[in-house]
Amino acid sequence: MTKISLMVSHRYQCLTINYLQGDYFKYEPLLLRFIKLIMASFSKKTRIVVIGVGAVGSTTAYTLLLRERMDELVLIDANKEKAIGDALDMNHGLAFLGKAQVWAGDYEDCAEADIVIITAGVAQRPGESRVDLLKRNVAIFESITTEVLKYNKDGILLIATNPVDIMSYFTWKKSGWPSHRVIGSGTLLDTARFRYLIGDKLKIDPRSVHAHIIGEHGDSELPVWSHANIAGSEIVLNENDREELFHNTRDAAYSIIQAKGATYYAIALALDRICTAILKNEAAVLNVSTLLNNYHGISDVYLGVPCIVDRSGVREILQLNINEEEQELLKKSGDKMKELIRYISL
Ligand SMILES: NC(=O)c1ccc[n+]([C@@H]2O[C@H](COP(=O)([O-])OP(=O)(O)OC[C@H]3O[C@@H](n4cnc5c(N)ncnc54)[C@H](O)[C@@H]3O)[C@@H](O)[C@H]2O)c1
Repeated sequence: MTKISLMVSHRYQCLTINYLQGDYFKYEPLLLRFIKLIMASFSKKTRIVVIGVGAVGSTTAYTLLLRERMDELVLIDANKEKAIGDALDMNHGLAFLGKAQVWAGDYEDCAEADIVIITAGVAQRPGESRVDLLKRNVAIFESITTEVLKYNKDGILLIATNPVDIMSYFTWKKSGWPSHRVIGSGTLLDTARFRYLIGDKLKIDPRSVHAHIIGEHGDSELPVWSHANIAGSEIVLNENDREELFHNTRDAAYSIIQAKGATYYAIALALDRICTAILKNEAAVLNVSTLLNNYHGISDVYLGVPCIVDRSGVREILQLNINEEEQELLKKSGDKMKELIRYISL
């Protein structure tokens, strides 16, 4: 008798049945139910909800739409008129794009969401440090996460609001979800800026530059020069050049905000990158913010480090073999985050 095993992954559940060829009629109802489940899993529409469609949220939504990342895109904002306007504007472009449904929604729409991106909050003012934003944004998150968690139990929460490592930690604590499903954009944007600046200096495509920014998305972040390379070749730069490149990376947001009031194009692409890694189950290595557990001795804090991101969220954290000086800086970054966490009594 031939034994055929079928397996389908529907969200996080796996269902396996053994269909014994000789017993077709006995197993027929079960087999039909199973086939229906497979069909349902293939026909389930991919939905992304963006909460907070200001500069970052609307640019992210538009980027996701242009790149055809989902079937359904829901926009939520305290300023409902803005969400309605954005949805209309994007819908008017659908004649030039692939098929997608875009609407200004409510928190009930989070129920079916694969990913809920939170970019709501108050933006950094010129000269304002990210940590000064903290108290204002925690209050906003308190109300948003309460609503999202009422409707969504098994999606992935992707946080971009600053200070992103603290907002991610706050959301994780509040949700009670496993930390792999609560992700901060972390130092992915900073790493992209770093790679761009190194590439620009050396006249090399940034996609061929391997270099990381880790730690806080903010003032205490650090460059991992000990592992920076181009196709395995050492990056030859003097100390002054290195310092300048890192400072320009770390302070990029301040310069852009000074120039035009907000940063949004590159962060939108970074969020799109994370969504793609999740939805396509890529297992891509991305420097997102995640909960550390004895990472070079650092625990119970969210920081940006290289992680393997797939359909489950953060599948695994990669232990970078950083040198002693880098370990010291990372620890300082973690300590700073812990102090802020205490400050908001979490
Ligand atoms: N993680 C990163 O790398 C990164 C990069 C750029 C900006 N940011 C952060 O993203 C956040 C948003 O920046 P922005 O420039 O889009 O700001 P913005 O002011 O343009 O947009 C914020 C939006 O949030 C909405 N909002 C406020 N309270 C809300 C609530 N309770 N419910 C729903 N919506 C609410 C506002 O109406 C507004 O539309 C800021 O915290 C900023 O610092 C993060």
